[in-house]
Order: sequence, then structure tokens, then C-alpha cells
Amino acid sequence: MCGIFGVITDQEQILGPMLIESGKRLAYRGYDSVGCATVAANGEIDLRKGVGRIEDVSAELDFPAMRGYRGITQLRWATFGAPSYENAQPHLDSDGDLLGAHNGNVVNNVQMRALFLSEGLTVRGTNDGETCVHAVERHFDRNGGQMLKAIRAAYQDLEGDYAFVITHKDDHRLYAIKKGSGLVAGLGDGLNCVSSDLPSILPLTRRILRIHDGEIVVLSPEGVELYSVHDGARIEREEEWYDGPIEVAEKGGYPHFMLKEIHEQPVVAGELLHLLNSTPHLGHFLDALEATGDRPIYLVGCGTSYHACLLGAYYFNQLAGVAAVPVLGPQFIEQYGESVGPADTAVFVSQSGETKDVLNAVKVMRERGGRVLGVLNVLGSTLMNTSDVYLPLACGYEISVPATKTFVNQAVLFLYLAYRLAGRDTAELDALPELLELTTEATDEQAQAVTDYVKDWDDLYYLGYGLTHPIALEGALKLKEITYAHCEGIFSSEFKHGPLSAVHDGYPVLFITAPGDEMMMINHVNEVTVRGGRAIAVAAEHPELRSNVHDYLVVPDSDRFLSPILATVPAQLVAYYMSVARGIDPDFPRNLSKTLTVD
Ligand code: AGP
Repeated sequence: MCGIFGVITDQEQILGPMLIESGKRLAYRGYDSVGCATVAANGEIDLRKGVGRIEDVSAELDFPAMRGYRGITQLRWATFGAPSYENAQPHLDSDGDLLGAHNGNVVNNVQMRALFLSEGLTVRGTNDGETCVHAVERHFDRNGGQMLKAIRAAYQDLEGDYAFVITHKDDHRLYAIKKGSGLVAGLGDGLNCVSSDLPSILPLTRRILRIHDGEIVVLSPEGVELYSVHDGARIEREEEWYDGPIEVAEKGGYPHFMLKEIHEQPVVAGELLHLLNSTPHLGHFLDALEATGDRPIYLVGCGTSYHACLLGAYYFNQLAGVAAVPVLGPQFIEQYGESVGPADTAVFVSQSGETKDVLNAVKVMRERGGRVLGVLNVLGSTLMNTSDVYLPLACGYEISVPATKTFVNQAVLFLYLAYRLAGRDTAELDALPELLELTTEATDEQAQAVTDYVKDWDDLYYLGYGLTHPIALEGALKLKEITYAHCEGIFSSEFKHGPLSAVHDGYPVLFITAPGDEMMMINHVNEVTVRGGRAIAVAAEHPELRSNVHDYLVVPDSDRFLSPILATVPAQLVAYYMSVARGIDPDFPRNLSKTLTVD
């Protein structure tokens, strides 16, 4: 998973700031290393790249000064090849006249590299982006220097899902190909560009051209042309005008995007409820859910989005008596891929709408003839375009790698759907934004106090019962993701079946409890406290529960279905404050990427 951006302009100029701006917008896709390259009018290539975040590498290598009329930026999330200078992209071919960068996974990378070496090519690293460049190089020479032919031939050799952008120093065009990974072209004034996603080109132009799999896009200063990779035929496609917002990623006075996004939750939840009350998509979505009849509805997602699916399954069951099966993307294929059919419905949930593990499952569902419903935050994403009907999460840009506001809105959306399936009045949910606001205010200091205790532990547990089980998983994931401590979320009654042996003096266990489940949870609390563990409750005020625990994160009173959503907030805050206390940047935790377009 990486991000690529390429631009060609009508005159040589300082390109650095444009490459950096687009690169920063792609940084959510990877930040292990970054590179920028420009080509001057005389064909000279200026390639600068290094390990680390774009702000740091740019300052060190002076990206802003880079000059040329063609340019490529690449943000890397390492798969093949450790983060290093050699594996940072863009890459040059053996003699340095081809320049390219990729996003995705070339799965026969190892075999291809061996082939290049046996043919005497100069292979500098182990990264599959370099493989894309060499794959074109060997056909470029055989095809008399014709880039289009060389790219088409390279496509036959490269297995996997990827997109790459490439240029030759003496060919006054940029070329890019899409096979499974995101790619969109922008048509500007005196410039044309191509990128892994739409937001990174919106500051330059709103005129866009969608690129489909199996297409090569050729960019010159004058225009953009599309060709089929299969037969080389020219493809005609109308450009589109994008009139959505150009969102600017700013922290708005908060020290981190994560904290800002936590504080945005009350507002985005209100906006989502408003949207659900008015969108015509909702009726189609509900019709598709109801058309499933007595068959279970599959709720498919990964990571945080999977936790929302799990909560959705509890809501569907407890509120509407509808059976739903929460399942991870790849697990859906392995567990149900041979048994689902035209009578089945699956709801695919993804913030980015680009998670490959989810899109692979969509593909299987399509092949089996089932209904594909999408729940996504990024409009224009692949999931949006491949769903029969979709509902947006309406959260705006989520920059921070740990998902916060999109989880809350996924939960709100499932709760709303369950209400509708149950025939209940959704006006009951109108209190939710204010309750979220109250929760954020009420638990901020409490979360900091709890963090003072837990921050020195490298190992802890979150326990939830029923409706709060998904919140325990989510709290644990958030904590693992941004503190580097080990934390597990478990259904509380399962703790005694093994993990209880971890408990010793002072060992922290957080118990997230919904109204109505307190007495059951007190049993599970006591199994921990009698063994010396430190019990921390996350729940609405409850005297008996309070007298059984050491610390209490008090969420406002609400009904048992809203309560898990509220309890999410202190869990996010504990993870956030613990991350900051450990000197970690919660927005960009090591080794991770906001959007995972690889298997
Ligand atoms: C959440 O904090 C994580 N960054 C991660 O688990 C994420 O939820 C997962 O990769 C799925 O992403 P998606 O919602 O964009 O599909």
C-alpha cells in the first residue's frame, strides 16, 4: 500500500511544492519512505528520496527547490523490501533513463528480480516498484523504445494488483497503468496529472478522468489519452467535473488529528443521522436487507470496521431479531465463499472503500450473484463504485491512522438500520450527538487519570459483555495501534477460560459494561480483583459496580443500545493519552498505513 502522484506541465518550473502538497495528501497511504523526482526540459532527472515522513525527508533533501516539467512523488508503505534508500521510490532503470513508481503488490516480484539479474539488468533494491520499472525496461529496448508497447508487454509479466506511473527522460509524456489499485487522472490548466486518489489532485483541478483496470493513461501537457492494455486500442471516455468539497487537512488547534477527530464525533454523528433521514439510498439499502428474508446478512469488514460489523450483528439481533454474521473480509471468502448465492446479502464496511481484503470479498460475492451493499466514508472509492447500493458515513476526511469518528458513525449507522428493521422510531437516536459531546467532556480528565496508571503496563485487557464486546475489541485495537503495548479485547465471560492466568498484582483490566449487564459483569470483575488485578470500569454510574472496581470512567446515562457507542469515547481517549505519554505520534504509528490496498 503506497501512494503515487505524477504531473506533467507545459513549461519547466519549480515543481517541488506541488509534489510535496500532493504527497502530503497521500501520506495516509504510507510513510515508511518518500521520494520525489523531476525531469527537466533537457531530459535531466533529479531524484531525491529517503526513509521517513515527507516533512522530514523534504526538509533534509530540499524537495521545494526541485525543478522540471514532469514530476513523480511516491509515499511508501513497505511490503517487499525493508524501508531503505534503495527501496524508496521512485526508481530508475539500469541505465537511468526510465523513472517510475508504483502502488500495490507485484506477487511474482522474487521471480522477476531473478530474471532481471540473469539478463544483466542493474537491480538496486528488493522492492516490487523497482520491478515494475525493469519490467518496462526490458520490453522498451525490444520494442524500439515505444513506451506504450513496452508497458503492455510488462503487464503480461507482472502478476498481482498494482498501479504504476513511469516516464522516459527523452519521451515527453507520463504513462500510468491501473491493475487493481486506485488511479485517477486530473486535467488542469497547463498541467495534467495522475494519482492514487482523488483528494490529492483536487487542489490542482476538479476535472477528472476515471481510469479502469486494464487501462494505460498517457499524459502530455496538452491532454490525457486512454488505451486498453489488452489490444492497445484507444478508449474514449468523458471527463467528469468533481464538485464535492476540497477538504483541507488541518488540526484546528488540536495537537493531533486523532484528538481533533475524536472531538468531531458529536457533529459527524448528527450529520449522519440527518443524512440517513433524508437520503433516497436508505430505502434501497433497507429493501436489499429485507429481501434476504430468513437468511443471515453478512457484515464484512477489517480492523476497526470489522468491530463495527460485530456491533451491528448485536444490534440486528437484539433490536430487530435479524440474524447477521460479522466476518472479516478474507474470512468471508474462506468460510462462506462457496455457500453464498443470489439469495444472499452482504454489507461491506470500509472507511477507505479501498481495503483489498474487503474488495476481494466483494468480488467473490459478485461472482456468486449475491447483493453487495457498501458502507464507506470515502466517496468515489472502489467500494462505492462496486456496490449495488451504498450509504456514506459522512465523516469528512479522517486523517489519523487510528480510525475514531468513522467507527462511531459505522456504529450509529448500524444502530439506525437496526431501528428501521425493528420498526422503531429513529427519533430516539436524536439524543446521540449531545450524549457524545457530554461523554467527551466528562471522560477526558478521567481518561488522563486512568492513563497515568496504565501507561507503564505493556500488557493489559479490555473485557466487554454482549453489546460492549465489540467496544472492548476496538479499545484494545486502538491501544495496540498507537501505544505499541499488547492489549487484548475479550468477551468477558471468556476471560476465565484461559487469559485470567495473566492477572497478577496490579494487572490492569478494563471492563466496558452496558446498562442491564452490570450484575453479570461484577462476577467477571471479581474473578480479576480477587487475584490482585486492578479493575477499571467503563460504564454509566452504577453503585454496585463502582464498589467492586478500583477506577471508573463514567459515561452518561443512556439506554443500553446507545451506551456502547458512548463508551467508545473514553477507550479512544485512554489510547490517545497513553500514546502521547509514551512519546508516540498517534496520527502516524510505526509500520501502519491508513489504507491497505494489498493482500
Ligand atoms: C483502525 O484504527 C485501523 N487503522 C485499521 O484497523 C482499519 O480499520 C482497517 O485497516 C480497515 O480499514 P477500512 O475501514 O478503510 O477498510
